[in-house]
Amino acid sequence: MSPGGPAVGVPSKLPRHVAIIMDGNGRWAQQRLLSRVFGHEKGSEAVRVVVRTCRELGIPLLTLYAFSTENWQRSAVEVEALMGLLRRFLEAERAEMLQTNIRLHVIGCIERLPSDVQQALRRTMADTAQNSALQLNLALSYGGRDDITRALRSIASLVREGRLNPESITEEVVAAHLDTRGMPDPDILIRTGGDMRISNFLLWQLAYTEIFVIPTLWPDFGRDQFLQVLNDFQSRQRRFGRA
Ligand code: IPE
Ligand code: IPE
Ligand code: MG
Repeated sequence: MSPGGPAVGVPSKLPRHVAIIMDGNGRWAQQRLLSRVFGHEKGSEAVRVVVRTCRELGIPLLTLYAFSTENWQRSAVEVEALMGLLRRFLEAERAEMLQTNIRLHVIGCIERLPSDVQQALRRTMADTAQNSALQLNLALSYGGRDDITRALRSIASLVREGRLNPESITEEVVAAHLDTRGMPDPDILIRTGGDMRISNFLLWQLAYTEIFVIPTLWPDFGRDQFLQVLNDFQSRQRRFGRA
């Protein structure tokens, strides 16, 4: 490594899809005797860094777990703070997304979100719909089980209407009814905060994803750590069940 050069080199084999469970905001704040909300504020800066890094490297798809179906059970104060933060994040980032050719997409139950947040999301999605360098999927009010349940419901309707035979329901048909329809499955899953679990993220889509659990709390996750994961991915041997 040359002095003053990047701490970690740019990886050669890039993933097509990176998914991240951005965990640890609350602990980050608690360690500093601050309210959990400060941790979320600080966490939104880490989001910017990761989005910019994907854009720079040419990773075409990034899915960020921002709010789960279970996170509705948190205190009203925390939920409201997260929703406010999300709306402000969208307003602040819209210009950069347009400038840097980033497309925003939402997976999850957008209808459950407060109407001002829905409005900000729909506007940003519409404004960036033609962008193609990076697709940023925000998982909002998202649960893997909910995703699969909604897919089953729409498949069942097709069967009832006589437009689909049960025998014709293949894995491809199921995948085509999930929120991630048309997208490749994640090559990499990163979870910050050290917990070894999936927490109802992309249950179907993670079947053969390479998993990286990192002890760093999300607000402290930066470019170098992201590059480190991408470099470690280079040496993972993906067998997909083959010998
Ligand atoms: C992740 O951080 C952000 C959301 C779930 C919205 P947490 O708020 O779960 O942080 P910890 O896990 O309590 O530290
Ligand atoms: C997962 O984190 C959800 C998001 C990061 C949005 P949680 O903090 O909600 O997960 P658990 O409760 O530790 O499993
Ligand atoms: Mg957590």
